Amino acid sequence: MENMNKAGFQDIITIDYLNDHALGVSYHNGKIFNTPFTIPGEVVKIEILGKKKGALACKLLDIIESSPKRVSPLCPCFGVCGGCEMQHISYDEQVAIKQRWIKQLFASAGQTIIRDIIPSPEPYHYRNRITLHHLKKTWGFYKRLSHELIAIDECKIASQPLNLKLKLKTVNKTAPQEAEVFELREDAGHSFQQVNSAQNQNLIDTVCSYCLNKKSLTALELYCGSGNLSFEITKKFKTVMAVDGDPEAVRQAQVAKKNRGEKNIQFIHSPVYDAVFNMVQELRQFDVVVCDPPREGLRETARLIPRLKPRRIICVSCNPSSLASDARVLIQNGYQLSEITPIDMFPQTRHVETVACFDPKN
Ligand SMILES: C[S@@+](CC[C@H](N)C(=O)[O-])C[C@H]1O[C@@H](n2cnc3c(N)ncnc32)[C@H](O)[C@@H]1O
Repeated sequence: MENMNKAGFQDIITIDYLNDHALGVSYHNGKIFNTPFTIPGEVVKIEILGKKKGALACKLLDIIESSPKRVSPLCPCFGVCGGCEMQHISYDEQVAIKQRWIKQLFASAGQTIIRDIIPSPEPYHYRNRITLHHLKKTWGFYKRLSHELIAIDECKIASQPLNLKLKLKTVNKTAPQEAEVFELREDAGHSFQQVNSAQNQNLIDTVCSYCLNKKSLTALELYCGSGNLSFEITKKFKTVMAVDGDPEAVRQAQVAKKNRGEKNIQFIHSPVYDAVFNMVQELRQFDVVVCDPPREGLRETARLIPRLKPRRIICVSCNPSSLASDARVLIQNGYQLSEITPIDMFPQTRHVETVACFDPKN
């Protein structure tokens, strides 16, 4: 019985559900088994690799009963490369699984409306930037769960113009002895850019749909980058004050503001916490606060935002877990989570974007 939980032991299990790391979870013989590249309902043969966070981490050896949702992955490196976790699942099922993750994560938040997830217009070849590693003569990605480089000359989630650039890079090589990180982009910029250009329009439209529809109101936009959301939300308000910590992004936003002749938006270069802290000290108020923080979320800034007394807070997030932490803080400080729209910005991967809308509790 002891050996049944040891590394190297092989077993046949049924996958109960996919967790938010896209691992197939099975409750079997009183233990939790986590197996990648599986689908709920499948019967699979696995080998135990070891224990990880109270579960048995497993390797998939064979699929005994396959799910009707299983498809052939497009990429020959799928399963080896650390980039994608869900290419073996039909795209319809991927979005259904992501919808379930968001529903479960926010089930305890109260009477929140969870809208249907917006699927990506392009399930493959959607990324307008990818981060590669370059060592000696190899361009590529790290292998799953390792720092071992695998050579890539085409990435199935990168856009075709990027793949063309990747091919040229492979031919045009210098040969660094230490691994270099290299961002390949469609544009020439260095600042943050939403990775999925087609889906970005749905993101902007969703944020705009949550802006209170009254042109006399004021808005504060935190983590504005180079103004991706700013120039659309500005159409909804009397004035917008937009803050970002990246000087190059703010410079680009200011150039774009001038070129567009926008008058009612002001871009400020500052760490968000400092800017909001000062606004709270000055007793400033805004009708709406829009924020789009990096993966780690709002952190300490979440406690400050309610002190600006907004009638609505709109949070864009690429990390549902940090959004859930921020939501707890906003709820403790007088707000309720009214509505969430999930947006599949990152098909074939376990990542999902969300737009959440908070209103003052009655
Ligand atoms: C997810 S991006 C969003 C950018 C923009 N909303 C967009 O759609 O392109 C997050 C932005 O937060 C900025 N940022 C990260 N940490 C910050 C901080 N502590 N203070 C100010 N800006 C920060 C980054 O420079 C980046 O532009």
